[in-house]
Amino acid sequence: MLEGKEIVLGVTGGIAAYKAVELLRLLTKAGANVHVVMTKSAQEFVGPLTFQTLSMNPVHTDLFNLISEREIGHISLADRADLFIIAPATANLIGKLASGVADDLLTTTVMATKAPVLVAPAMNVNMYENPVYRKNEEKLKGLGYMFAEPVSGALACGWEGKGKMQDPAVIFEEALCALAKKDLAGEHVLVTAGPTQEELDPVRFVSNHSSGKMGYAIARAARRRGARVTLVSGPTCLDFPFGVETVPVISAMEMRDAVMAKVTDATLIIKAAAVADYRPAVRQELKIKKNDAPLSIELVKNPDILAELGKIKGERILVGFAAETETLLEHARKKLTEKNLDMVLANDVTQAGAGFNADTNIAKLLFRDGRVEDLPLMGKEVMADILLDRVVELKRQGLGPNWA
Ligand code: PMT
Repeated sequence: MLEGKEIVLGVTGGIAAYKAVELLRLLTKAGANVHVVMTKSAQEFVGPLTFQTLSMNPVHTDLFNLISEREIGHISLADRADLFIIAPATANLIGKLASGVADDLLTTTVMATKAPVLVAPAMNVNMYENPVYRKNEEKLKGLGYMFAEPVSGALACGWEGKGKMQDPAVIFEEALCALAKKDLAGEHVLVTAGPTQEELDPVRFVSNHSSGKMGYAIARAARRRGARVTLVSGPTCLDFPFGVETVPVISAMEMRDAVMAKVTDATLIIKAAAVADYRPAVRQELKIKKNDAPLSIELVKNPDILAELGKIKGERILVGFAAETETLLEHARKKLTEKNLDMVLANDVTQAGAGFNADTNIAKLLFRDGRVEDLPLMGKEVMADILLDRVVELKRQGLGPNWA
């Protein structure tokens, strides 16, 4: 996701410096080349060797390092950065940036960079609420600096309140957001994900193997690209995506109601959820007890949410999924036309690396004009972005609305 990206990670002196190690790991795992700059006090908390080992780059600590640098260190770092992240950022560092003080390698490099800067503050709650600090933060925000807001909790200083550095996974997400194109700005994207569970009695349900990974990846990607995103999610083990309005549901009926409640101002709808087609005709109040006789369960049909959306889609772009185990294209084409969709992502869920619960998928994208695009084995995050690329192309061509 971050292949080819040069990121400068500034670390300042706070107990949260150890969490910057985890952030560095996430960035390098995603393919970024990370250059770490540490202030003098940061080195009191975590040794440069840890960052050097994980980044596989020398750690920068001195403004004047005449021996190892042929280039002017701070200018070279500032120029090569696609993104600057400061995590943790102390009140002192933020105050210096707001006042234009450049008295060490980190502040000098930030001042010299034209790259976007993402700041993750970490400090005592009283410092965070101090009017001087608040003014500094507002000033930097006004100048285009992005902030990964700290969270509330028990602080290292013994106080309780806001000032704890944001979770490294969220800072990582905000870094992806900072680097993403904003071609979905102004859109409201409604995504469904995960399975539905249809209760039989208080302990049993009918469901499927969907993990929600595909739909969650789409929701995250759409948010990074500037959209307001609502995710209607069946029960999954995944964390709700940061910055996405998530509506948890259990059954297909609940999913239908949640989708219909959000559809009015949605401009783009992507239905990745694996909705159970049937539910038990009766939900027993008490656990069904076993006996020697065979048990038959009567199932009734659930509403087809996607088909309902196809009837009222109007100007919206509507993307459906097709999870098949045979004659993939034939079934997917049928869904495309019968449900009045603009695009279908069809996956053969019997293929290794595709479909349910995998981190990867293999799919075909079908369009209304008959085009079929092969999407070979790739991560679901990458596939989510390709799907959104195609949606943006449809929008640019003025397609999508008025198919019906
Ligand atoms: O969640 P993961 O583990 O990451 O797995 C991803 C996935 C396999 C679930 C995903 O890639 C996928 O294929 N999702 C659609 C699963 C599905 O229900 O397919 P379907 O062919 O049965 O349904 C076709 C379309 O109609 C889907 O967009 C579905 O959301 C929708 N539908 C189906 C039934 C129903 N009652 N209402 C619906 O809206």
